[in-house]
Amino acid sequence: MAHHPPEPFRIKMVEPIKLLDRDARKAAIRRANYNLFSLRAEDIFIDLFTDSGTSAMSQAQWAAMLEGDEAYAGARSYFRLAEVIQDIFGFSYFLPTHQGRAAENILSACLVKPGQYVPSNIHFDTGYANISVRGGHPVNLVIDEAHNPTVYHPFKGNMDLQKLRDFIKQIGPHQIPFGMITVTNNAGGGQPVSMENLRAVSQTYKEFGIPFFIDACRYAENVYFVKLREPGYADKTPLEISREMFALADGITMSGKKDGIVNIGGFIAMNDKALFEQASNELLIREGFPTYGGLAGRDLDAMAVGLREALREEYLAYRLGQTTYLADRLRELEIPIIEPPGAHAVYVDAGQLLPHIPQEQFPGQSLSVELYLEGGIRTVEIGSLGFAHPDPQTGQMVHPKLELLRLALPRRVYTQSHLDYVAEILAKTAARREQIPGYRLIYAAKLMRQFTAQLEPITLDVHPSEPSLELSMLQV
Ligand code: F0G
Repeated sequence: MAHHPPEPFRIKMVEPIKLLDRDARKAAIRRANYNLFSLRAEDIFIDLFTDSGTSAMSQAQWAAMLEGDEAYAGARSYFRLAEVIQDIFGFSYFLPTHQGRAAENILSACLVKPGQYVPSNIHFDTGYANISVRGGHPVNLVIDEAHNPTVYHPFKGNMDLQKLRDFIKQIGPHQIPFGMITVTNNAGGGQPVSMENLRAVSQTYKEFGIPFFIDACRYAENVYFVKLREPGYADKTPLEISREMFALADGITMSGKKDGIVNIGGFIAMNDKALFEQASNELLIREGFPTYGGLAGRDLDAMAVGLREALREEYLAYRLGQTTYLADRLRELEIPIIEPPGAHAVYVDAGQLLPHIPQEQFPGQSLSVELYLEGGIRTVEIGSLGFAHPDPQTGQMVHPKLELLRLALPRRVYTQSHLDYVAEILAKTAARREQIPGYRLIYAAKLMRQFTAQLEPITLDVHPSEPSLELSMLQV
C-alpha cells in the first residue's frame, strides 16, 4: 500500500472557494474580533477548522437520504440505522441525538451528581462542559508521553493505568458515576488508544464496579491505527477490531459528524436497560422521540450509510495517508508538530513555534489568526483559550500543557494540492514569527469561552498593565 494512497473516489460535484485579498482578510479578522469562529465561511479559502460535520457525503449517502422516512415514530430510517449500529457497536440499546454533545448531555444528566468525578484520557471540551454543568469534575489521566510533542509513542492517547487506579482508590469508586476514554484523543493531538490499553481500562473500571463509556467520535480512525500498529491486528478487518473494542465498554457517546461522515447526527448506546429508560426520558424532553432523537429520518439514513463507509479499508488508508502527507510536508519545512500525527488532523506546536508569546497570551490563537491573514486558512486553537480551566480547589487558571494549533482535515474534501498550499502558507508565516503578537481577551463567557471570545492583539513592545479578563474571571 502506498504511503499516501490516492483518493479512492473521484469528484463529481464541486463547490467554488475564493481567496480574498490581504486587505479584505485583515478587515474580516478584525471584524471577527480575532476569533475565527466569528468569520463568515465565504471569507475563508481553505477551512481546516474542524473535521466535524464538514465532510463530503458520498453518492450512496445522498441516495439514501431520498429514502428517508419522516414518520414521527417508528420510521424505517430508524430501523435501518439500528441494524448498522447493532452490527458495528453491538450494544443492546441506542438513542439517536442531534450530535455528540447531546449524547454527552443525556449521559451526564442521567449519571453525574454534584461533587462526583469522571476520569478519561483527556475529555474533549463538550464532554468536559457537560460534566461540569452537572456539578461534576472531569479528570484527565492520559499517559505522560502525550504531553511531550516530539517523543514517538504508537498510542499516545492511552490512559495512564497506574494514575487511574490510584485516582479511583483516592476518590472512592462510589464517587465516580462512570469512567470514559476518548478514541482518538482529540484534545491530546488526535492520538489513538491501543486495544491493550482499552482492555486494561475496561478491567480496571469493572474491578471497581464503575460503568465504562467510550467517546467514540473517531473510533474508525482509532481502529485503523490498531490494525497498523498493534501486534496481532494486521489481518483483522476494521469491523472486527471495532466489535472487539466496543465489547469492552458499557456504552458510548458518538458524534456522527466525525466517523459517521454526516453533516449532522449522533447517538448514545448502552447495555444497561435502566439507564436506557432514563436516557429515553431525557431525550424526550431535550431532543425528540426515541426513534428520531433530534434528527430528520433522512439524517438517520445518511448516518447508517456513512458509518459503514468509514470502516472501509481503502478509505481509512487514504484518510491516514492525507494527514501523513501534510505532516511530512510540515516536517520538511521544520514546522514543529505533534509526533506522530493523528488521523483527523495535524497539530502544530504553537508554543514551540512562538516561544515569545506566553500561555496567557494564547500562542495557538495567535498563529491561527496569522494563517488566516497570510493565506485565508481557518484553523483552530487547542490551547489556553479553549482548554484552560479554573482549578476546582484554588480557582487558579490551569493552563494546558501544550499550546496547539489544529489543522483538521474534513473527510474527502481537500486534495493534495490544497495541502501543499497549507504547508506553504505555514512556512511563510513561520518565517516572520518574531513579529507575531500575542492576544488578550476583551470578552469571555464562563464556559466554552473559545466559541464567543473577543480578543485584541497585544502590541509587541508594550506589556499589558491591566489585569486580563482571564484573571478577573477567577473572582467570579
Ligand atoms: N467528543 C470529541 C472527541 C469531539 O471531538 C467532539 C467534537 C465531541 C465529542 C462533540 O461532538 O460536535 O457532534 O457535539 N469535536 C468537534 C471538533 C467540534 O472540532 O473537534 P459534537
